[in-house]
Amino acid sequence: MKIRPDPGLTFDDVLLVPRRSAIRSRRDVSTASWLTPDIRLQIPIVSANMDTVTETRMAIAMAQHGGIGIIHRFMTIQQQAEMVERVKRAENMVVEDPISIRASATIAQARQLMAEEEVGGLMVTDENGILLGVVTTRDVLLAETPSDSVQTVMTPRERLIVASKDETLENARRKLHSYRIEKLPLVDEEGHIVGLITTQDIVKIEQHPDATKDSRGRLMVGVAVGARADDLERAAACVAAGADVLVVDIAHGHSDHTLQMVSSLKKRFSVPVIAGNVATAEGVRDLADAGADAVKVGVGAGSICITRLVTGFGVPQLTAILECAEMGHRMKVPIIADGGVRNSGDLVKALAAGASTVMLGSMLAGTDESPGAPVVRGGRRYKVVRGMASLTANIQRKAIEKGEISEEDWGEVVPEGVEAVVPARGAVADILHQLVGGLRSGLSYAGARNIEELWEKAEFIPITRAGMEESGPHDVEKF
Ligand code: XMP
Repeated sequence: MKIRPDPGLTFDDVLLVPRRSAIRSRRDVSTASWLTPDIRLQIPIVSANMDTVTETRMAIAMAQHGGIGIIHRFMTIQQQAEMVERVKRAENMVVEDPISIRASATIAQARQLMAEEEVGGLMVTDENGILLGVVTTRDVLLAETPSDSVQTVMTPRERLIVASKDETLENARRKLHSYRIEKLPLVDEEGHIVGLITTQDIVKIEQHPDATKDSRGRLMVGVAVGARADDLERAAACVAAGADVLVVDIAHGHSDHTLQMVSSLKKRFSVPVIAGNVATAEGVRDLADAGADAVKVGVGAGSICITRLVTGFGVPQLTAILECAEMGHRMKVPIIADGGVRNSGDLVKALAAGASTVMLGSMLAGTDESPGAPVVRGGRRYKVVRGMASLTANIQRKAIEKGEISEEDWGEVVPEGVEAVVPARGAVADILHQLVGGLRSGLSYAGARNIEELWEKAEFIPITRAGMEESGPHDVEKF
């Protein structure tokens, strides 16, 4: 047994000391950072792979605003792969494989397909993929005979404006505008449908200039996987669906099975692999040696975690980030600070301690884009957030795996997380705006133009409880 001489520190134990700054405006700083050595984010924020935080909607919103979402793994492989597909379809320069339907299909079938795929129009093709027409929601919604064929309501090929597959975005934009159309199908010389450019996609590209996109202009998305045998299958399905990054999500990530999983994934797939969670420099070193492209740091720091109470293990989050980041910087492996961030001040401290990005759970769980509907209590709206090792999450997981659960299953669970609620907080864009505003201000207090300079210039000062009390509103009445 040994005991470390210095106490571990967390966010409330320190402040950052203001430095001389040449920065005139908060706009003069960059908040860009690396998720992995290959994935650059315009804002260093990642939404947590929790079932009350990141599914399709959150992943889309996070990537649109310059961060990224990691879709949780507590669902079937097929469901997770479908969520990835939806994110990848949400924005495109060109939809490469537009959803199609046969001319002989019924209007009812077209309606159903549009609803299932969440699209506003379908390419109508023959059995060889030759474009015969386009059918949109407007054509089918109020049609009186749903058993009629799609052919009877579609806009036929001869009345369509189409373009070749090499159409530039600029030309496409001009055509869409001058003909006042919303969809521009792309066809090859024989008339096969080979792509689609939509007005909506062009508008989205212009609305979200900082979006995190892949080389084909699609939003980027990550997925969480575990370390069991069928998780290789899970990873394969998600990568095939377009996942850009895999996150090996294990509570004690400094373990042999996590290391093995990382090296198996690295051998099998070409997408980057993030691994965690760890709270020590040795954890970072071993995961990086196994091939991890980035390491997630945080054991027991999360708002809904009780790991430290149940097991006695954990490292206060600021100390964990400081130690892990030193090793991460040495091995050129970005660190993701995961857990315990409650405001933009904590975000700045986590980055200043050496993290490249920060993962948020309960801060984003109350937004419109998190899964689930708000609940009303005492006239106020809340959303549920739960630890992925909580009792109900464990039971749900067993139910998915076994199909049904017994009374013993309930008794067997030793939860390391809790179920809770957070106030409903509106659009995630507004939360991100506040966080990024705080980060920009923080960079200017440090005299740092970007996150790398923040690492160099940051100086933490430990504070007392009195110092902490002085840091919040005090001696006034809040309303
Ligand atoms: P915040 O504080 O942002 O933390 O809500 C989110 C992170 O908490 C971790 N997490 C858990 N940790 N038991 C734990 O010990 C759990 O049940 C649990 N669920 C989530 C996870 O790292 C997440 O990103």
